[in-house]
Amino acid sequence: MRVAMIGAGYVGLVSGACFAEFGVDVCVVDTEVSKVEALRAGRIPIYEPGLDKLVSENVRDGRLSFTTDLSEAMEGADAVFLAVGTPSRRGDGHADLSYVFAAAEQVARAAKGPLVLVTKSTVPVGTGRQIQELIARVRPDAEIEVASNPEFLREGNAIGDFMRPDRVVIGAESDRAFQVLRRLYRPLYLIETPIVQTGIETAELIKYAANAFLAVKITFINQMADLCEKAGADVHDVARGMGLDGRIGRKFLHAGPGYGGSCFPKDTLALARTAQELGAPATIVEQTIAANDARKEAMAERVIAAMGGSVAGKTIAVLGLTFKPETDDMRDAPSLVVVPRLAQAGATIRAYDPQPSHARQLMPAATHFADSALDAAEGADAVVLLTEWNEFRALSPDRLKATMAGNTVLDLRNAWDPQAFREAGFQYQSIGRP
Ligand code: NAD
Ligand code: UGA
Repeated sequence: MRVAMIGAGYVGLVSGACFAEFGVDVCVVDTEVSKVEALRAGRIPIYEPGLDKLVSENVRDGRLSFTTDLSEAMEGADAVFLAVGTPSRRGDGHADLSYVFAAAEQVARAAKGPLVLVTKSTVPVGTGRQIQELIARVRPDAEIEVASNPEFLREGNAIGDFMRPDRVVIGAESDRAFQVLRRLYRPLYLIETPIVQTGIETAELIKYAANAFLAVKITFINQMADLCEKAGADVHDVARGMGLDGRIGRKFLHAGPGYGGSCFPKDTLALARTAQELGAPATIVEQTIAANDARKEAMAERVIAAMGGSVAGKTIAVLGLTFKPETDDMRDAPSLVVVPRLAQAGATIRAYDPQPSHARQLMPAATHFADSALDAAEGADAVVLLTEWNEFRALSPDRLKATMAGNTVLDLRNAWDPQAFREAGFQYQSIGRP
């Protein structure tokens, strides 16, 4: 089989490389020339564990290639996947579908033989129908069937998630479209991955419902963490005690500084917007968005309070800037709210992230970028753990204490042992734990 993947971002690159690993011929196309040149030269433009090896092996075996030319990518393709971005539209929270429609139109114009146009980007319910209308307008003669195949991978674990998903969702309207997609995912039958076959609208909504539900779950445990702090309870044990109930489940009950990333923030906003417009408001999602936004601000205030109400003239080490570990993605990271607020309140920031990212362009001028966690902590009055990279878990409290000038630690990911840090002489605070 042959596939064209439009978009060489986190989803397009990972999905393209994984389909190639399944034995499919994949050509990934991107409009960004520098990205395609890098990929052709064997460099991966994003950080995702294991992706460099997967890409280089499949390129070597002749199953994976990169181009900026859509017609070349579509030559003989059974399916063309849309994996372009759908960011929040400025002002109204809707998903910006301009990349999706532009790419769909390019596909319609370039189509030669019959093909299935599959939306892998996260798009609001009704988008597939609009793509069908667009194709009918631009190329009424083209044999293009539209399908939806939302992607559920997480950054940092993207290859594992793609290769061993909990389910594959396929929304389509013809046997041919279902067959093409089922053939592509055939290797997953061996591990008995459930395939959910639905209509296009349902598939589109499953993706938003799943992301919004996870965002609600995180926000719920964050609010329980606040309550634990007031009541003297421990949110870890609350999460465990709740999560062992099979109906609830233990995953996504880690309290923290608020969810971030390229998807939950924009997808909750877009879902709330669509639900309002269709006259079925998702008020629980609206509340989640507001609570999560407020939480990121509250984290900065928590740091200021822990330092006696003022950080003016203080040096604060911030460990972890990306929105989660094992990614270089800075989109909607809590650090984008917390660090500027601390800098604005007069603090000097010494930041460290294990992976290079765009953080340098996004952080305020008062940020010094350190070479290691201990380097960041050098002479600092406080350490704030914002993202739980594994290398931070192993930091020795005694070495940290010897490096710092002050003794305040805010562990906003509950990654460290409170007792060990207190015994080392720290004023240690975490989230929802005594
Ligand atoms: P991204 O911004 O990393 O990548 C998108 C790529 O598409 C860019 O390289 C861009 O240059 C390219 N592009 C845009 N228009 C194009 C065109 N007409 N032709 C060729 N290339 C074009 O985005 P991403 O994080 O991979 O997300 C893509 C979609 O997948 C979004 O809808 C997102 O919500 C969804 N999604 C993302 C994740 C994730 O973890 N990042 C997971 C599941 C779903
Ligand atoms: C998320 C979903 O998990 C994926 O299934 C989905 O495909 C993807 O969005 C998407 O649609 O793009 P991702 O954003 O990569 O994946 O990362 P997550 O691991 O879900 O983390 C999202 C945010 O929630 C992070 O800021 C993380 O720190 C936070 N989080 C997660 C918590 O605060 N607590 C938790 O228990 C889990």
